[in-house]
Amino acid sequence: MKRKTKVKSMDTYKTIRKRRSIRRFRDKEVPEELLEKCVDAGRLSPSGANLQPLKFITVTEKLEKTFECTNWAGYLEWEPTLNEMPRAYIVILKEKEKGHDLDAGIAAQSICLTARNQGVGSCILGALDFESLNDVLEVPEDHEIKLMVALGYPKKEPEVVEKSKDLEYYFEDDVLKVPKKSLEEVWIKR
Ligand SMILES: Cc1cc2nc3c(=O)[nH]c(=O)nc-3n(C[C@H](O)[C@H](O)[C@H](O)COP(=O)(O)O)c2cc1C
Repeated sequence: MKRKTKVKSMDTYKTIRKRRSIRRFRDKEVPEELLEKCVDAGRLSPSGANLQPLKFITVTEKLEKTFECTNWAGYLEWEPTLNEMPRAYIVILKEKEKGHDLDAGIAAQSICLTARNQGVGSCILGALDFESLNDVLEVPEDHEIKLMVALGYPKKEPEVVEKSKDLEYYFEDDVLKVPKKSLEEVWIKR
């Protein structure tokens, strides 16, 4: 008889399941120690050939100016108000002509999961006004912005909708519903 292998569930999986992109934040500061932990999580993330081409800018002062350079929820005619804006950002820079762009995505997820474990919400942002951000944040010439992670305490948690055909997220009773493909749809066995 075939014995079933019992797979021990891990905290990381729980955090991955619980993390949603947060786009409305409470008026509460993100502690400096958490930002430090998030940057450290980015630093320790994998990188192609271990080239470690990334640097991280934390933003806690120029919040409004940075917010002006962001774009939110492309599927919706909606954006967070100034009251709901992120209370910190981690901007992921990559050294020009060094390493792989994918490294930034991996670091971004490490940051989001680290934040989520401490009750802090996040949203990865790629639709950015790069030119203005370079000025606002005085990005070093030899580096380029790849992604930002917006951070803050969530006003409301979005919810996953399983097995939806349409992949566009939507609001229902003020809750953001995020469709995800089913496991069967994405899992290929050979
Ligand atoms: C590379 C990347 C870029 C993204 N850029 C933006 C963005 O500019 N603005 C935004 O509101 N959300 C952005 N998102 C968030 C996605 O819209 C979000 O991950 C997706 O809708 C699924 O929702 P979930 O994160 O709650 O699972 C981005 C996500 C990734 C991975």
